[in-house]
Amino acid sequence: MSSHSVVRNSWYVAGLSKDFPKETLSGHVIAKRPIVIWRTKDGDIAAFDDRCSHKRFPLSKGRLMPDGTLECAYHGLRYDTSGKCVMIPSHPTGPISPQAKVIGFPVKEQDGLVWIWPGDPALAEMREPPRLPEVADDRWESIVVGPMQVPANYLLLIENLLDITHFYPLHDGNIGDVANSRIPIELEEGEVDGNRYVMTVRKTANYVQPPYLVDWFTYETVDRHHTHCMMSPAVTRVVMRVANPGELNDRKGEREYPGTLEATGNERGYVLIHTHTPVDEKNHIWRVIVNCPAHHMSNGDPNKSAAKRVAEMFPEVAAEDEWALEQQQQMFAYPDEGYTEVFLKPDLALRRARKIFVDLLREEQLSKAQAAE
Ligand code: FES
Ligand SMILES: [Fe+2]
Repeated sequence: MSSHSVVRNSWYVAGLSKDFPKETLSGHVIAKRPIVIWRTKDGDIAAFDDRCSHKRFPLSKGRLMPDGTLECAYHGLRYDTSGKCVMIPSHPTGPISPQAKVIGFPVKEQDGLVWIWPGDPALAEMREPPRLPEVADDRWESIVVGPMQVPANYLLLIENLLDITHFYPLHDGNIGDVANSRIPIELEEGEVDGNRYVMTVRKTANYVQPPYLVDWFTYETVDRHHTHCMMSPAVTRVVMRVANPGELNDRKGEREYPGTLEATGNERGYVLIHTHTPVDEKNHIWRVIVNCPAHHMSNGDPNKSAAKRVAEMFPEVAAEDEWALEQQQQMFAYPDEGYTEVFLKPDLALRRARKIFVDLLREEQLSKAQAAE
């Protein structure tokens, strides 16, 4: 078992609420499970195995009937919203086998996002999706970058997000800033809503901001807290808060988790929500949701919001990360054979993230073995 497997017993983001208009079918693969998702006439989200129980035809290629049933496009079997087949056109009067059904997946809609639990449904209650209150709050402007399809295991993205020492040289020319990567880290770990988290906190005082940060956050010199947190296998949250020297609320003695900035007051900054949804061991879907207080304008263009300016930079930065992750993934095709990985001091957080993955995968194997007994 390697940490580059896929954790199934976790809530994952299937999309934003607005990505699911009523009565529109969409096909997804989450943690190696093909899933058809749609919003019913009543506004609820339904999620089922995307393989028709007849001949595995993808149900997401079918259509919704006026009575709310889902009709397979191949031979026309119809399923109700409990996943049971209720009609077979080729023998409309015959009995329907109880095997003619598709399994459902636990679903939650929270904070403007649709969450799916691809694991054992009996265990879905043991965790909750991490809270991301900024996304559906009008006091914040939220801009989504993506979804991007990345040909790499999702843990490689999580490790990338927990590690800002790659900003130079990978992001040289945009957000590359070697001084940033030399700020010492504090590590915070814990568990919230059943999700183990690991978080790095970088605190600096009298930090002279590079020009792009002055553009986003206006101040030239700041006190700053910069946190990177893997909240669960599904989400990594990055928060930057800055204020004039001496004016940052440093919340002494308090946990930083989950970290946000005051939407009122003189703090500036952002909350970046990275959602990483595994497709399989070698692919994932990445979204970046950029959040800034809605009334914060940029310095360079007072008519343009800070959130827009931050989001404008992202496609270029993300393309560099995608390139790195794809290259890295390809090198996992070779057996170690004399290769040894070196860990540097700032790699502490990614080691802890890997440990969480290994523990979750072990827990899954154990519960599967117990269920088989
Ligand atoms: S495969 Fe769906 S009805 Fe035959
Ligand atoms: Fe990066």
